[in-house]
Amino acid sequence: MREANLDSRNSLYLAEPLDTWLTAAQQDFAIPEAGGSSARVFLLKNAAGKTSFGPDPAFKVMRHDKISYAKPLFLEEFRILAGLRGQTGLTPMLQAGYLKPAPDTVWPPEVAPLSKILEKQGEGASIRGTLALFEPDEIQDLIDQYEERILDGWLPFLILERRWEDNLYLLCDAGYTRGNFVRNLSMRQVLDISIQICGMLEQAHAKGAIYLDHKLLHYYWNEYRQKVIMLDWNIGHWLPETFSPEVQQADLVQFSSRALHHIFTGRQAPGSVAVGPNRPEDIANSPTRYKASYSFDIQNRLNAEELGFLESALDGSFQTPTEMKDKLQYLINKRQ
Ligand SMILES: Nc1ncnc2c1ncn2[C@@H]1O[C@H](COP(=O)(O)OP(=O)(O)O)[C@@H](O)[C@H]1O
Ligand SMILES: [Mg+2]
Repeated sequence: MREANLDSRNSLYLAEPLDTWLTAAQQDFAIPEAGGSSARVFLLKNAAGKTSFGPDPAFKVMRHDKISYAKPLFLEEFRILAGLRGQTGLTPMLQAGYLKPAPDTVWPPEVAPLSKILEKQGEGASIRGTLALFEPDEIQDLIDQYEERILDGWLPFLILERRWEDNLYLLCDAGYTRGNFVRNLSMRQVLDISIQICGMLEQAHAKGAIYLDHKLLHYYWNEYRQKVIMLDWNIGHWLPETFSPEVQQADLVQFSSRALHHIFTGRQAPGSVAVGPNRPEDIANSPTRYKASYSFDIQNRLNAEELGFLESALDGSFQTPTEMKDKLQYLINKRQ
């Protein structure tokens, strides 16, 4: 662990917000993630030159006014990202730690950066304080200090690789794209994306992590490399001792009713957990089976076998990501 200053005059500092951008893209659109969540996310910059991370990373910090809600969530995310270190397709944790903001700190308002003035208002550049920085291989020390630091006014944070790719929600949502989503990705790409996510879940499950928060906002699409990358593990669980077939299947049903149904049809399955700042109990109390629902166009997009696959995934027929991946591989081979 080492200490550093947070100060926009000469050191690391918080620049533009990264969690309010959806409103900027389309003004009449609701803010799916802002407010209500456990964290604020800013770009991390260094006034003295470059940060040591290559491109400027993202800084996800616990909300000072949501501590009791956010405490177990941040702990899960530290454990999972440390436990899954090195796995591809995840947004890696570059460092983590605690921020002690100066006593007079005022957090910036959550405004979408629709103009230069609003963009300035939303920045975290006025926040000063002390950072206690831990390397990825020091996460156990960070966890050991968790209760004591929080009681002492420190806010936990993660420094993450910054996602710059296209958000899958923006490519796939029927409302957001005004129906044009069918043209954004081919069915082969849709199936490939699904296979890639199953592959990531397969590796996470093998270590004892489940994800659960499968809204499309959490998935990004690297068009150039044709790769999916995910973020936000704080609703997930790190269960190396107690991982079971039941939790594994629950993760797959959440994946099916939200991400899978959304990229196949442009919407989540009816009755699934809404896109928004989801709380762990929203997911824990959600149905365990769903039915597919789609417009007439979708019947031209998906063939009968693909629709059959979606229906059975929603019905909880798949026990493991490997089984699901094999079926998707069969479907993609038929699309050659
Ligand atoms: N590494 C990142 N790069 C770019 N944007 C990010 C990154 N992490 C988070 N964000 C933005 O901030 C939002 C909230 O972050 P998230 O990790 O989902 O936190 P929460 O647990 O509060 O939902 C994300 O939906 C995304 O828009
Ligand atoms: Mg989130």
